[in-house]
Amino acid sequence: MHKIIPVAPFDAVVFGATGDLTMRKLLPALYYRFRDRQIPEASRIIAAARTRLGTGEYRDLAAAALERHVPAADRDPDTVARFLDHLRYVAVDGSGEAGWEDLANLLAEHPDHVRPYYLATSPSLYGAICRNLSAHGLIGERSRVVLEKPIGHDLASARAINDQVGKVFPESQIFRIDHYLGKETVQNLLALRFANTIFERLWNADVIDHVQITVAETVGVEGRGGYYDTSGALRDMLQNHMLQLLCLLGMESPLSLDADAVRDEKLKVLRALKPIPAHEVPMRTVRGQYVAGAVNGQPVPGYVADLAEGRTSLTETFVALKLELMTPRWAGVPFYLRTGKRLPQKVSEIVVQFRSSPFSIFSDEFAREPNRLVIRLQPQEGIKLEVMTKEPGPGGMRLRSTGLDISFEETFNQRYPDAYERLLMDVVRGNATLFMRRDEVEAAWAWADTLLNAWADRPEPPRPYPAGTWGPTAAIALIERDGRTWHEDLG
Ligand code: BG6
Repeated sequence: MHKIIPVAPFDAVVFGATGDLTMRKLLPALYYRFRDRQIPEASRIIAAARTRLGTGEYRDLAAAALERHVPAADRDPDTVARFLDHLRYVAVDGSGEAGWEDLANLLAEHPDHVRPYYLATSPSLYGAICRNLSAHGLIGERSRVVLEKPIGHDLASARAINDQVGKVFPESQIFRIDHYLGKETVQNLLALRFANTIFERLWNADVIDHVQITVAETVGVEGRGGYYDTSGALRDMLQNHMLQLLCLLGMESPLSLDADAVRDEKLKVLRALKPIPAHEVPMRTVRGQYVAGAVNGQPVPGYVADLAEGRTSLTETFVALKLELMTPRWAGVPFYLRTGKRLPQKVSEIVVQFRSSPFSIFSDEFAREPNRLVIRLQPQEGIKLEVMTKEPGPGGMRLRSTGLDISFEETFNQRYPDAYERLLMDVVRGNATLFMRRDEVEAAWAWADTLLNAWADRPEPPRPYPAGTWGPTAAIALIERDGRTWHEDLG
């Protein structure tokens, strides 16, 4: 069992406390941290939303959420009851006047507590909530604000939100969440790269042919159609989660794990993203939208039917693209990224494909496959290095690619905490290493905007793909045109 260091006592105020994110992710994450005694007894979780509810009613909602989202084996009734005792509810109108005095009175009971304000609301409320926090004197040195994605839908809107929040909170107190950074296996990319000399020496264009990043989901839009239809796969997954993965893969070694040291290096990667010229966008990017099909043998409707609004939509639920980084380490190495909903498997994986050697002492009869490092982020977290080996037995030198395969589950034999558990505790501790700085978010948008603008200038409907397939065939052509293929041995 790893050592758990309790954090300082806190009063965490969650705005949007009746919403899906709070119920599905935040309350379960806080429950686990409480169960593992990381949250001190004096701490409170203050749930805030517009609905008029009493604390008792909110605790009932929270209990139901824990039942749905925490496995029974992890729910000891006594621990659940003690956890619920830490919840309070205040009805607060984020953009209006109602409820703020009540919140202020509650917080005044513990002036010394760390105060994370978690904004699990629509980003359109971020500015108003921050203004209200300031107007009611609720911001001090021990306060921090946590912003969920999406931070804007393009560079201009992201800047506007950052400006509004930045008027009342200094950057050091703003924690922009990208929950991928809280995933254990994503943090492990830092260990893999910078704690292992064998990889770091080979991590460059001399040795690496190309990199693939796949983030595939089996789910559709799951009742989030209102948000998703204004977003699409590029904004929802690629601009943030996938570019963050790219940063960790592509960055130079930071001087330390200090928040700004890491973020400075990630920022350089984002700034090194080579803009895709408008005329190349149709060749280098593929947009898709799922139509009816079957996932895991179950028939599922298409995206338009999922939206249930009786209208067509031009929003992409799949995107694949090829990008490059203009750095000495990576010049000329293509990165192929793809993500989509209603694909055949839920899997997030990075494939680092090494170059093949130009000369071989082995007969051509036994095709040699270049080495490949497969980093599985979820599920079945692990790392596999594919190496050529001799097949046993007489009869010549027969070669075969086999995997040096590490399964983290088997190695560590313990539960993987959800990303939010780690991130919420980091907020209380004031450790911003795994959060995005303003300049990072804006650099990522600046690059994404070039694509969004090119798509908008030449609007074309996304290519249909049946649910349960790996996206439109054009995504296969995107990589095969370069004489390469998507890694298929997923999971
Ligand atoms: C969220 C997206 O940020 O990430 C969702 O808004 C997506 O559309 C989710 O389903 C995927 O996260 P995970 O942790 O399940 O890979």
